[in-house]
Amino acid sequence: MSIKMRKGIDDDHLTFLDAGMIAANSGVAWVALHGRTAEQMYSGVADWSAIGMLKEHLATSGVPVLGNGDVWTAADALAMMDQTGADGVVVGRGCLGRPWLFAQLAAAMQGRPIPADPELGQVLAVLRRHAEVLSGDYGQERGCRDIRKHIAWYLKGFSVRQHIRLALGTVSSLAELDDLLAQIDPDQPFNAEVGATPRGRTSGGRAPSLPDRWLESRSLDPVQARQVSQAELSVSGG
Ligand SMILES: Cc1cc2nc3c(=O)[nH]c(=O)nc-3n(C[C@H](O)[C@H](O)[C@H](O)COP(=O)(O)O)c2cc1C
Repeated sequence: MSIKMRKGIDDDHLTFLDAGMIAANSGVAWVALHGRTAEQMYSGVADWSAIGMLKEHLATSGVPVLGNGDVWTAADALAMMDQTGADGVVVGRGCLGRPWLFAQLAAAMQGRPIPADPELGQVLAVLRRHAEVLSGDYGQERGCRDIRKHIAWYLKGFSVRQHIRLALGTVSSLAELDDLLAQIDPDQPFNAEVGATPRGRTSGGRAPSLPDRWLESRSLDPVQARQVSQAELSVSGG
């Protein structure tokens, strides 16, 4: 079992050191930390210094720490590990529309040369394969609906005519996808600068909703415990 958490509720309620130690003492295999608070959601820049603090805090436990937040490239992963002492990284938004990032990360971690980013022709082939796999799993209608959001991430930084982008945003069959992809000039290099910028959710902070009287005590009474389990049902991962 492993655990992943944020720094805390907000800057006044940072829980990651305590939570990390509790997890380590409970025998988890890994502890991962996203360097933002719940209030921050995806805003601002992830605080890698917190990952370094957690690594130090858990040093004697021997439990490895994984850092998370704003790893967009393999170079970011190496920089995070170097700056924080983290044993590895967790990737969130960085792999949206670029699944080859994992091969680049593996090479970076093993000290091998990092494979080059693909040209557009290769990106389109991966996108097509992704749509095919989704269609295989969910059926063509749902698969093609699902691939729409990925298409914007795959094409970020490439020059694609507006009417084709728009049509791809409503694609509903693999045949239609093939027809549209065939109209794109595949001879375009990857735009590394754009590739290293945020993608996916970047939304700003909002106060997290907490169970009644949550902040009044460090322990839970039975009513609060019920509220927590209900609240957890309506909150997606961190
Ligand atoms: C599509 C998507 C799904 C995610 N699902 C989860 C999840 O189920 N559980 C979780 O703890 N975090 C989840 N996250 C959050 C990420 O693990 C990560 O903490 C967050 O995106 C910050 O890392 P990043 O800056 O690399 O994106 C998800 C993120 C994305 C983009």
